[in-house]
Amino acid sequence: MNTTLKLVALSALPFVLTACELQPKVSDQNGFRGTGMNHVSLQSVAETEYDVPAPPYELPPPGGPSAGEVYDNVQVLGDISADEFNYLMAAITEWVSPDEGCNYCHNPADMASDEVYTKVVARRMIEMNQTLNANFKSHVADTGVTCWTCHRGNNVPENIWTLPEDLNHGSVKITKRGQNSPVPETAYSSLPVNAVASYFLNEDTVQNVRVASTGLYPSNANTRSTMETENTYALMMHMSDSLGVNCTFCHNTQSFGAWNISPAQRGVAWHGTRMVAHVNQEYITPLTPVFPANRLGAAGDPYKVNCTTCHQGVNKPMGGAQMAKDYPALLAAPAAMAAEPEAEPAAEAEAEETT
Ligand code: HEC
Ligand code: HEC
Ligand code: HEC
Ligand code: HEC
Repeated sequence: MNTTLKLVALSALPFVLTACELQPKVSDQNGFRGTGMNHVSLQSVAETEYDVPAPPYELPPPGGPSAGEVYDNVQVLGDISADEFNYLMAAITEWVSPDEGCNYCHNPADMASDEVYTKVVARRMIEMNQTLNANFKSHVADTGVTCWTCHRGNNVPENIWTLPEDLNHGSVKITKRGQNSPVPETAYSSLPVNAVASYFLNEDTVQNVRVASTGLYPSNANTRSTMETENTYALMMHMSDSLGVNCTFCHNTQSFGAWNISPAQRGVAWHGTRMVAHVNQEYITPLTPVFPANRLGAAGDPYKVNCTTCHQGVNKPMGGAQMAKDYPALLAAPAAMAAEPEAEPAAEAEAEETT
């Protein structure tokens, strides 16, 4: 190396080092000893205290007339007491429209009216929230979720996605082949930009998260070794990025496919993928005609949920803060819905292998 080169290299050193995170780390072992399965995180991140809003006031004791008896147009929360109903209205306002207040959803001259579209959306969101807590315990456990988990004081949650305008399933731009436009959903990689959409749109599309090929050659009948692989990796990048974790948080690299050696978190994540698809299919997409144009994406579809909507870079949203327990009305299954049966990941994986 000549002197000029050495000098250039030396002067570049500080810049190289600034790319490393020279802060203290903490490490949790999450797999078998000796397999290198450690979850490493910045101490500052691991010790973050999350700012979770306190209840508006103490939860009113049960009893008294129900909201259905007291008010005129209560379609979802009719069975809870009017006192608890008002407590929840105050909390919802803090979570979704702290600046605008009650009138973000209400015409103050007629609280029973459904003329403001946000009220119609909010009613459906209440049912969605109940479904998440009651029917997806396989994912949210007893921690549960509230409107705050996604909204965090914003009218529209910050981490959302819509279908790409020129990329409606299959019809891809020739030049970039639907790739090479780094988007946050795929952690700014060159992987397919609509991978998240291609899984999380509905319950049919969340299948086929697979890499291992079923045949020798790629063909239309056997796309495993190409398209599905790229989409799978894009999805994996999204999941790792959303949770702020490495691949080994959910996998043992001895075999990415094998469930029996994977950490338990992979099963939780599996239920999460189905939960996200369910929420988008059953709750968000059907609201399309309700939203005004400025709440729709380039392809005319509403903003939808992915892993980041709740997780925001942390393996448990808000560090696992137990918030939902203070809002019993959000824990009950929606009145109109029976509990939905859920398939187990192992059973699904076996079915996959036998095909
Ligand atoms: C994010 C939207 C939203 C905000 C903000 C909101 N509400 Fe509501 N409100 C609703 C929904 C949805 C219903 C209907 C619930 C149902 O059908 O079960 C409702 C119903 C009501 C009703 C019943 C009216 C009737 O006669 O049928 C009252 C009273 C009420 N809200 C009071 C308030 C107050 C007071 C605030 C502010 C502290 C508030 N709401 C903030 C969404 C909202
Ligand atoms: C799983 C995440 C999630 C949860 C939980 C959630 N929301 Fe939402 N909410 C969304 C998304 C995504 C949108 C954006 C839809 C759009 O604008 O196309 C939204 C939009 C809304 C809007 C429309 C806002 C606007 O300005 O257009 C209202 C009102 C709302 N939510 C109320 C609620 C209430 C009330 C709760 C709790 C009972 C709740 N949400 C819980 C994800 C969530
Ligand atoms: C939050 C948990 C989680 C993280 C993090 C994660 N994965 Fe996955 N991975 C899963 C789940 C769940 C499946 C199975 C999905 C299904 O069956 O629908 C899977 C499936 C896979 C498969 C397909 C296996 C097969 O059967 O063909 C590969 C390969 C894979 N992941 C690689 C990765 C890589 C590489 C990373 C890091 C960039 C990663 N994963 C990060 C949970 C995770
Ligand atoms: C509606 C909000 C919400 C969404 C969306 C969501 N999660 Fe979660 N997730 C949670 C909550 C709440 C917990 C904490 C449960 C608990 O306390 O055990 C959790 C826990 C997890 C865990 C276990 C973490 C641990 O430390 O044990 C994994 C893994 C996970 N989620 C993966 C995902 C993936 C992957 C997606 C997207 C496919 C996703 N989540 C989408 C709310 C959500």
